[in-house]
Amino acid sequence: EKGGFDHYMLKEIYQQPKTIADAMRGRINAKQGIITLGGINEFENRFLNADRIIIAACGTSWIAGLIGEHLFEDLARIPTEVEYASEFRYRNPIIKNNDIVLAISQSGETADTIAALELARDRDALLYGICNVVGSSIARMTDAGSYIHAGPEIGVASTKAFTGQLVLLTLMALQLARKKGTISSSYFFQLLNELENIPAKVESLLQNDAKIKYVAQEIKDANNALYLGRGYNFPVALEGALKLKEISYIHAEGYPAAEMKHGPIALIDENMPVIVVASNDSTREKVISNIQEVKARKGKVIAIIKEGDQAIEKLVDYAIEIPDTEEPLSPLLSVIPLQLLAYHIAILRDCNVDQPRNLAKSVTVE
Ligand code: F6R
Repeated sequence: EKGGFDHYMLKEIYQQPKTIADAMRGRINAKQGIITLGGINEFENRFLNADRIIIAACGTSWIAGLIGEHLFEDLARIPTEVEYASEFRYRNPIIKNNDIVLAISQSGETADTIAALELARDRDALLYGICNVVGSSIARMTDAGSYIHAGPEIGVASTKAFTGQLVLLTLMALQLARKKGTISSSYFFQLLNELENIPAKVESLLQNDAKIKYVAQEIKDANNALYLGRGYNFPVALEGALKLKEISYIHAEGYPAAEMKHGPIALIDENMPVIVVASNDSTREKVISNIQEVKARKGKVIAIIKEGDQAIEKLVDYAIEIPDTEEPLSPLLSVIPLQLLAYHIAILRDCNVDQPRNLAKSVTVE
């Protein structure tokens, strides 16, 4: 049932060209420029008049929420907040009846996320769910929602569910942006067409796996690692760090690249691998200077770069290429080498990648 792969996690990483396509299937009419998510259509007025979207989630799903915040604000111009469900539920948050509370959960059974929704329901917010498990508690208790249709995710470390969540957040933001007129029609079509190109681009970047395996060998003995990114790819840095720590037990932190000089730079020496997501155009020059700051302190830099970006390639110790894409979609590509890097490092350290110690696939107690 592992389909020829050694582990479920690897199988699930390699399924992503298909699961990303499945998350879009039947929801896009590219010719007419129509995106149809039933849950949004049903509550169209609530969405179009929403003062705010509050995203509540845990772990990797919370990180997907951070990218959702960029998408909703950047494309649909809806103020968005992202909350750890466990904090939100206990801090007497302000929730109004014009707010939409969006729960993101692979399992649909996470106790803290359920409690956050109960609180929001008491305050009359509209509850929306992005879940993978059909018929799960969160899917049932929300007013509306969308499944990601990724199929069962067995590896404890979430991979294909994360990219599925990103597809749904992108579709939601685009559907709302189209209806609200917050992006131009040409940009809308550009993003829509590019979204449909993503599965093939994922397929092509998976072919760099040998290089990623080689890089894993070079950093497998580190005790710490730092992940940096900016903009849409700052949450990807968080996700890369989370994947590494949960399956390889190497301590890792994700940081916005520019925050490095406000603290973590003190940690950098020749033993500190720094993984930089350097594939965005809009912040390219700034990320280059962040890389130079690390190199000046003898840090080892592994960069995720846009295909053919020789200038960055020359600066760093190891470069992993990904295809070029539109920036709002770039996390769908840039996260995948980081999933593979964590996987290969964990294997080299003899860790149980599918069932890391102390972790459960679904956290039904708070
Ligand atoms: C990390 C991971 C966890 C989950 C978190 C939320 O790889 O899998 O951090 O993302 O426990 O779970 P769901 O999405 O089921 O609510």
